[in-house]
Amino acid sequence: MLPFHNVVADDFEQVNELIIRQLHSDVGLVENIGHYLIEAGGKRLRPLMVLLAARALNYSGKQHLDLAAIIEFIHSATLLHDDVVDTSTLRRGRPTANAQWGNAPSVLVGDFLYSRSFQMMVAIGNMDVMTILSDTTNVIAEGEVQQLINAKDPDLSEAGYIDVIHKKTAVLFAAACEVGAVIAGADQATRQALKEYGLQVGIAFQLVDDALDYKGDAETLGKNVGDDLAEGKPTLPLIYAMSRAPAAERDTIRNAISNGDASKLEEVVAIVESTGAMDYTLKAAEKAVQQAHAALEPLAATPYRQAMADIADFSLGRNH
Ligand code: IPE
Ligand code: IPE
Ligand code: MG
Ligand code: MG
Ligand code: MG
Repeated sequence: MLPFHNVVADDFEQVNELIIRQLHSDVGLVENIGHYLIEAGGKRLRPLMVLLAARALNYSGKQHLDLAAIIEFIHSATLLHDDVVDTSTLRRGRPTANAQWGNAPSVLVGDFLYSRSFQMMVAIGNMDVMTILSDTTNVIAEGEVQQLINAKDPDLSEAGYIDVIHKKTAVLFAAACEVGAVIAGADQATRQALKEYGLQVGIAFQLVDDALDYKGDAETLGKNVGDDLAEGKPTLPLIYAMSRAPAAERDTIRNAISNGDASKLEEVVAIVESTGAMDYTLKAAEKAVQQAHAALEPLAATPYRQAMADIADFSLGRNH
């Protein structure tokens, strides 16, 4: 557990129990794959943000527990699908579900988790929550498809890249915080502030994720580095490096993207470093984290708000 879990340790424990209970299915394979992914851990940042947002606004009911589990189910569903489309083989330090069982079971169990999250949402019966979460899952799907369209395109702009990470990653962080605020009965301004905090943390989180694909270490990360290059993904470290590198090096990156050629990983990493693209990417993440901190300012100073601030910092400094 990361230190910022401590302030909601009891809630967090209950969420983990709820997640296991809600994984129930009469179909054995569904449970097996669900447990395999979920029991491998993961940082549980998004459910934690639901808990913290609700608690920071003095919420004293129980629905934040269900919402936290719902958000983790949505996240888990996207991971099952994501590892299929990214042909990834390592997740949370284990072979991915697709590596273990194949693509078809991964996609179908992803669907199960999505629909289970909808069942749980309906049980809460809050129309604002349902609107936020249905819009969010829809945008995530669009983001993943947009990214697929952008694959192997070395001419993608920085704005085009930001649009994708906003959709595929940041909106779920934003939704986690916003639904926490909604069930706490927050006013519009507070709801907006929490949504903005989540959005900026999500942007920073994905920028750092994309940086780690060029400078991380598989053992610590629990997933393989170089997957993005293998898929020809024009992420910010590459987009910026291409704008700064001399022609020959620029062409190395262009070709690696166009061909999805991870055999050039070492060369590409060296160019990303020498052009300052790694620094540029991390600076962009730092800016988002500053905005996340600013968004928290109107909230009363509580240990919950502090934990949220710590999560923002963690998203920047993380190596896993
Ligand atoms: C992975 O998210 C997907 C991205 C948005 C980069 P996390 O890094 O939060 O995954 P887990 O849940 O901790 O494994
Ligand atoms: C994560 O993007 C986005 C979603 C899961 C929707 P990545 O493809 O970069 O995530 P990892 O690196 O596989 O965790
Ligand atoms: Mg992936
Ligand atoms: Mg992906
Ligand atoms: Mg990644």
